[in-house]
Amino acid sequence: MIDGKTNILGVIGDPIEHTFSPAMQNAGLQSLGLNYVYLPFHVKGNRLSDAIGGAKGLGIKGLNVTIPHKSNVIPFLDDIDPIARMIGAVNTIKFDYGDGEVFTKGFNTDAYGCLRAIEEKTSIKDKKVTILGAGGASRAIAFQMACSGIDELSILNRNYEKAKSLKEELRSNLNKQEYDFNNVNAYEIDDLKRVLDSSDILIDTTPIGMYPNVNDKPIASADMMHEDLVVNDIVYTPMETSLIKEAKKANAEVVYGYKMLLYQGIRSFEIWLGKEAPVNIMEKALLDVLGI
Ligand code: ATR
Repeated sequence: MIDGKTNILGVIGDPIEHTFSPAMQNAGLQSLGLNYVYLPFHVKGNRLSDAIGGAKGLGIKGLNVTIPHKSNVIPFLDDIDPIARMIGAVNTIKFDYGDGEVFTKGFNTDAYGCLRAIEEKTSIKDKKVTILGAGGASRAIAFQMACSGIDELSILNRNYEKAKSLKEELRSNLNKQEYDFNNVNAYEIDDLKRVLDSSDILIDTTPIGMYPNVNDKPIASADMMHEDLVVNDIVYTPMETSLIKEAKKANAEVVYGYKMLLYQGIRSFEIWLGKEAPVNIMEKALLDVLGI
């Protein structure tokens, strides 16, 4: 029931009509009986400043931020979480109202979502983590992992130079921060088997196997994996990607791609509401809207 006391949350992006977040967030809000509603807002690039100002004016309590605004929104915010600042992208904004003032803080829960998805299966503390790919998703996940108590990070990419420059960026940024982590290395794709032999966790951030290219061969095959490896593909369409199938063949533990989507939303919910999110209910709503 929407009434005079209903609080507003939402997501801004362009395009926005395909967002899964309203289904997932409203299911969570309703199940806890919270007088909140979560809405999609179609915001064009040249209206981003108006959107943030307007949200403050309207008393909106929280926003998710999606493509293409994740980096451009940063200058409009009062404070940025240190990991989001290193990643250079914000997907969650919390608006605090008090004494006529509004305080905005930006977070990045995307990569945190990946971490928490993996932590459903195993603690990442002191683990050796291998990341495939060196694009935007890899960068965010690499920073998040490096700041979260792992032992070692290995980055492998088709274009080795990109893996190397990501490694260098991580090293120089992490040295300046409170997160003192240096054990990050870049390797050629040909070294994957050797690297995986001593890895605990593999995260594939490449789009290989994503619908409609569902039969594309993954970089990591079953013969390169071992039973104690936890394998996460961030692709979630289809759920059973070619990489997930290889991991199952090797009797490795698998972490489905949709879990990252789930836990980024769970974390946003927790940031806005300051309470534990109903994971099972939000997961069911997400799976329903994804059609899996
Ligand atoms: P995102 O922002 O989603 O991470 P991206 O920045 O385009 O997307 O990065 C995609 C990553 O997947 C890149 O590291 C890319 O490798 P290159 O740097 O060599 O281009 C990797 N990738 C994409 N398709 C690939 C393929 N068919 N084989 C191997 N790597 C692939």
